[in-house]
Amino acid sequence: MRYEVKDLALAEQGMLRMEWAENEMPVLRLIRERFEREKPLQGIRIAACLHVTTETGNLMRTLKAGGAEIALCASNPLSTQDDLAAALVKYEGISVFAIKGEDKETYYRHIHQALDIQPHITMDDGCDLVTVLHTERREQIADVIGGTEETTTGVIRLRAMQKEGVLQYPVIAVNDAYTKHLFDNRYGTGQSTMDAIMRATNLLIAGRKVVVIGYGWCGRGVAMRARGLGAHVIVCEVNPLKALEAVMDGYEVMPLLRAAEVGDIFITVTGNRDVVREEHFLRMKSGAIVCNAGHFNVEIDIPALERLAVSKRTVRAFVDEYRLADGRRIYLLGEGRLINLAAAEGHPAAVMDMSFANQALCVEYLVQHNGRLPHEVLPVPAEIDAQVARLKLQALGVEIDTLTPEQERYLSSWQEGT
Ligand code: ADE
Repeated sequence: MRYEVKDLALAEQGMLRMEWAENEMPVLRLIRERFEREKPLQGIRIAACLHVTTETGNLMRTLKAGGAEIALCASNPLSTQDDLAAALVKYEGISVFAIKGEDKETYYRHIHQALDIQPHITMDDGCDLVTVLHTERREQIADVIGGTEETTTGVIRLRAMQKEGVLQYPVIAVNDAYTKHLFDNRYGTGQSTMDAIMRATNLLIAGRKVVVIGYGWCGRGVAMRARGLGAHVIVCEVNPLKALEAVMDGYEVMPLLRAAEVGDIFITVTGNRDVVREEHFLRMKSGAIVCNAGHFNVEIDIPALERLAVSKRTVRAFVDEYRLADGRRIYLLGEGRLINLAAAEGHPAAVMDMSFANQALCVEYLVQHNGRLPHEVLPVPAEIDAQVARLKLQALGVEIDTLTPEQERYLSSWQEGT
């Protein structure tokens, strides 16, 4: 078995943490138990490019229980949990290529090493794996049945590929399932981002002006949790509908150029590049903290900050201080990489349970429908989404109502009015 991880001696610690996460992943556990009996992925090779966390570890165990052979690499150079990577290699016999803090060259080498498995299925988080396959390793595409994509940024890239007519196999947009983005993007990003900022800085959030840039599902979650901690939250948006929603949700909404002057903590969650730029840095108060919770490290224009700075030093783990010519200090967290995975442990297992249940069931669906799906970005089948919600409610011990036959009939008729 091939692998490249930091240190296999970390495996026991990683196993303990993976088991801890599993306690919070009852839906995935049920799927794993069924996969163990039915082996729906027998003979299937999967290349997965995901954040290598304890939750991902439990997804890998589930796919393996279904009979799959797996190669896993990281979807971000800073998000790998080295102990978990070691545990997957040592105790689960899974090929892992991921080391926290790996440089860009190693990151891409690891993607290539994962692709060496000659996958039937690609499982991606951000679309880097699919991009390498479609650009540098096209000869392998004929073997691929389909893929899944975990995150908003990846789905946007895949839609661009589809529009250009270059996408060569069906990819299911797991991100777009209700049981994914409503919970993982909102409650997961909300909690884990604030957790990471607090772990990295140990700052009191209450009373601070927190500027949330981007009011998609992740931004909504971050704003909600920052407010819950007592922050005065300002939202910046480019989309009028989302901006209006933020206003009605009770937040102050203004352009970033104005927010830059008053904010204490800036959090980007847009999926776009160069969101916080030179003009913003130039207006920030001394001591301002800037971080990113979007997928890629392009949201903060770090080269601009480097240009403006006369000196730079690391003052705590994941906290870099940039001193500007006029003496002001700006603090960048986690090198502008997604802070919740760089400085904390990513989303809690209870939400990843639903995201990864969708992943496992979508892989099974792709295998069952081999050759019968269009080469497009596809939605998660509604039945899978509903099944994940049902199982999660069941695991939480929550019962819900059912429609009476009269109500069913009423909802499918049109004749009856007032
Ligand atoms: N993305 C965000 N949080 C995550 C986690 N805990 N595991 C895997 N992917 C994630």
